[in-house]
Amino acid sequence: MVGTLELHPRLRGPIDVRVHHIGIERPRLLLDTIPENPGALLALGNRHVVSALQFDRELVVQLCRLAADIEVRPTLAHMPLTGKILITAFLEPSTRTRLSFESAWHRLGGDILSITDPTTTGIAKGESLADVAEMFSNYGDAVVLRDSGERSVYEMIETLRVPIINAGNGIDEHPTQALADLYTIFKWRPDLATDAPETRVRIGVIGDPGRMRTVRSLLLLLSLFAWTIEEVVVINRTDDLFDPGQREQLEQRGLKIRTATRLRPELPALDVVYINSIAWVGDTFERLTGDLQLDSDSPFKAGAIVLHPLARGAELDVSLDATRHNWYFSQARGATFLRMALLTSMVERVHRVADVKPPSKAV
Ligand code: CP
Repeated sequence: MVGTLELHPRLRGPIDVRVHHIGIERPRLLLDTIPENPGALLALGNRHVVSALQFDRELVVQLCRLAADIEVRPTLAHMPLTGKILITAFLEPSTRTRLSFESAWHRLGGDILSITDPTTTGIAKGESLADVAEMFSNYGDAVVLRDSGERSVYEMIETLRVPIINAGNGIDEHPTQALADLYTIFKWRPDLATDAPETRVRIGVIGDPGRMRTVRSLLLLLSLFAWTIEEVVVINRTDDLFDPGQREQLEQRGLKIRTATRLRPELPALDVVYINSIAWVGDTFERLTGDLQLDSDSPFKAGAIVLHPLARGAELDVSLDATRHNWYFSQARGATFLRMALLTSMVERVHRVADVKPPSKAV
């Protein structure tokens, strides 16, 4: 098979027809590194997932292990979610989160009901979220909700009788994005998921922990692995980065945090560079401004990886896409496998993909 194709010059010059994979993912190495303990996943059975605070270390590690197990299998022998219906309610825009949740559920054999525009629902007529949640309980087996209101997911929980996942509630949290971030980091360095990392890492977070839900959830999950992290450097133009008590909470959980206002001097010492630019505020978003930008000429440490929850703006130049620092596409891809592991556990079907005794009620 030829690697390049000569197109008629009227169209354009030669193109490379090989499909490139950026980011050297190692789900099998992660599988081999982490001892199997699927029993830990039973804690997720019939539970809502609203905050990264709900997770302990073993649960995160075992979710990532199951995600890796799913990722390395060509197909699942049994479709564990056959007969189950997921409702995805995205009352705020999304590309990755909705599609990866829906892809995950489809790949597990289930069916989907999807709301992508709240004006097509009773919400436009003033229907309360509590009443909508009551209907969700009638029509589905699990719900994924994104809304710009921080309280919406909590209002639904009051009446829901099926598990709900918070897929982003305003500037508050996005816990499954943070799980996908950890999954990517552990595929890069499986030893970071163990008691004895080979070396500790220095992580740069370019963003705003008090106003970016992805950053807030990520820092909470990173704090579960604090002994593997030399320090987290939060880089932004302003000093007013944390909510009251937020930094103290993270430090109490063991995370060593430093703030910095300039990016370039920090980059050569960072092993992981996490960047986000968007904070959802009400019905719109604000972007991180200034010169906090990455491109292929940025002075990265050799072997450093760049993560970004996406969607990107000018802060993440496309010139980085074809470099080995690009792990943000792997991050987006791996989110599907992580969400497959999470969903299977939440609807009590983990026994169909792992060697664990089913809960007595599970079918
Ligand atoms: N990462 C993320 O939340 O992307 P979407 O807004 O496209 O869902």
